Amino acid sequence: MKARFILNGERVAVSCHPLRPLIEVLRSDFRLKGTKGGCGAGECGNCLVFLDELLVNSCLLPVYRLEGKRVTTIEGFVKTREYLDIEKAFLARDILSCGLCTPSLILAVEALLARRSSPTEKEIAAFLEGNLCSYSGSLQIIKAVSLAAETRKRRRGDVKRHRTDARP
Ligand code: FES
Repeated sequence: MKARFILNGERVAVSCHPLRPLIEVLRSDFRLKGTKGGCGAGECGNCLVFLDELLVNSCLLPVYRLEGKRVTTIEGFVKTREYLDIEKAFLARDILSCGLCTPSLILAVEALLARRSSPTEKEIAAFLEGNLCSYSGSLQIIKAVSLAAETRKRRRGDVKRHRTDARP
C-alpha cells in the first residue's frame, strides 16, 4: 500500500506492506535514527513518537494507520520552543540520560506538559512509568519536569506580557 502522511511538518509517502511498523519506516526509509528500538512489543517505551497529539509506541503502529496523520519524531520536536523548555530544565537538573532513552523521555515529558501545565510530583512519576529508564520515578527527573513546567509558564506569561505591553 501507499500511505501519505505528514512527517515532522513535511508531506511524505511510503509504499510498503500495510502492517510494517512505523519505527522501521522512520529508521530505514527516512533515516530518522532518533526513534530507538528496543523490545518491539510496546514494553520499553523507547520508540515513542507523536501521532497527531497522541503519544504512541511506533513499534506497534502499522503503516496503514498513518494515512492523513501527522507524525512528529524527536527530530521534529527539537525544532520547537516547547523542546527548549524541557532541554533547559534537563540541563539545569543534570539529567544525563543515555541516547537510547532520552528521545522518548523528552517526548513523554512533552505529552504530559501538553495536558497538565502544573503536574504534581505524583502525576509526573505515574506518567513516566512507561519509560523504562533509570531516571523513571527518580526525584531528579520529577524536579526536572516541574522546572520545565515552570519555565514554560514563565515563557508564555512573558510572551503575553510583551504583547500586552506593545499595545498603545
Ligand atoms: S521498542 Fe519497546 S515499546 Fe517500542
